Amino acid sequence: MSSHSTSAPGVQSADFQFRCIACSQLSHTASHDFRCSACRDLLEIVYPKWSEVSPKAETLKALWRERRLSSTPVDLSGVWRFRDLLPALAADQQAITLREGNTPLYEMPQCALLTGVPRLFAKHQGMNPTGSFKDTGMTVAATFARHAGFRWVACASTGNTSASMAAYAARGGMRSLVLVPEGKISWSKLSQSLDYGAVTCQLRTDFDGCLRLLQELVLRAPVYQLNSINPFRLEGQKTLAVELLEQLGWHPPDHIIVPGGNLGNSSAIGKALIEMRDLKLISQLPKLAVIQAEGANALVRTVRERGGKELVSVQPETRATAIRIGNPASWKKAVRVLEETGGAVEQVSDAEIAQAKAEIGAEGIGCEPASAVTLAGLKKLVKQGFVKRDETVVLVLTGNLLKDPDFTIDFHRGDLFPGEGDDLKSLRRPPIVLDATLDAVLRALENAEKEQAAGKS
Ligand code: F0G
Repeated sequence: MSSHSTSAPGVQSADFQFRCIACSQLSHTASHDFRCSACRDLLEIVYPKWSEVSPKAETLKALWRERRLSSTPVDLSGVWRFRDLLPALAADQQAITLREGNTPLYEMPQCALLTGVPRLFAKHQGMNPTGSFKDTGMTVAATFARHAGFRWVACASTGNTSASMAAYAARGGMRSLVLVPEGKISWSKLSQSLDYGAVTCQLRTDFDGCLRLLQELVLRAPVYQLNSINPFRLEGQKTLAVELLEQLGWHPPDHIIVPGGNLGNSSAIGKALIEMRDLKLISQLPKLAVIQAEGANALVRTVRERGGKELVSVQPETRATAIRIGNPASWKKAVRVLEETGGAVEQVSDAEIAQAKAEIGAEGIGCEPASAVTLAGLKKLVKQGFVKRDETVVLVLTGNLLKDPDFTIDFHRGDLFPGEGDDLKSLRRPPIVLDATLDAVLRALENAEKEQAAGKS
């Protein structure tokens, strides 16, 4: 393996700068809270050299294809394989990688029938090493944290960021500090950060309270913050869209539908789409749709009630705990990519989420509740005519089914939304407790056949 970072000829990705999203001030360094020193708004990473020596689209595509044959750790990573679009490493060996990315794009024939959209795909980010899309951002941000000499990294989380951060910190020889809302994240996610050796604090507040505290902490203690306010995270998460477009043979889908919580991921995907268009990797921008839980719908209200000009914070409540967020940090970035791509926002109820989750599960795919907002949202966008039946749609499934088994079990046992209608009832598959006899099992099989014949397929 070469000791120098390998990038495409003419690509100067090392020359990134931070730019304030509000006042556009450029800088080569960022403060610990990743806020603009002039106006305190969020920063984004930009590559000014691209406007002088734009990397050639065909060269990039060929290089990325070629790297698939390589067995170096950076080439085996589905994030660093696209490193020409990322802040460059001084040396490839610096990357802290768990072979993230490389996630499957599935056809969804059953959900296609349900929605009436035949060309329906799911990009499953739950197939990442710690089971969520966070790994694609964490590999980049953790790498730059270590490069900057930090011993400690920290985040506020609804569970997935903390699981991912703890894993990458451990791999990179750093300590990690996790702030999560007490009683409001799934045990599976909590168990991950414990296993990866994080100092895990369950705070008596919600996610927004954890994030507020973290922002004060990073100004007082030498810890590097790894929330999606950190723009390195979003650079890594951009590669979801690049990998997706490569999987689609660089033919852009008409729509990409993504869950919205703190709004880092939608911003990252939108940034990737715009950069790919500017670099001529794609000829047309897909429309980005961001779907939120009804009980945590800050972006929906911000767009509908204030024209995207001013944040409407909410007191969040939803069983999709990953997106139980009322004061999303990256709302301005999300509004901008919605405007640039001609996208949409929508909200769905917890019952609609549960139904969509069971429908995705019935395809043999499986995802966590927050991911299922995408299918539930698609149904509404089709009804409204925003998504046409002859268009190509990609749902971004952000987390693995095993991330929140309580939700799944409560749903199938009938403990979630017990009074809801037949749509939900027909999807429930409760476990059956039986005597250990052949007769009892044969009867269960017969009953299942009868139910299917009666229309509960
Ligand atoms: N889906 C899952 C599974 C998530 O864990 C999150 C966010 C989102 C969607 C929303 O993404 O915040 O970028 O808009 N989880 C964060 C966490 C907040 O701490 O794990 P977003």
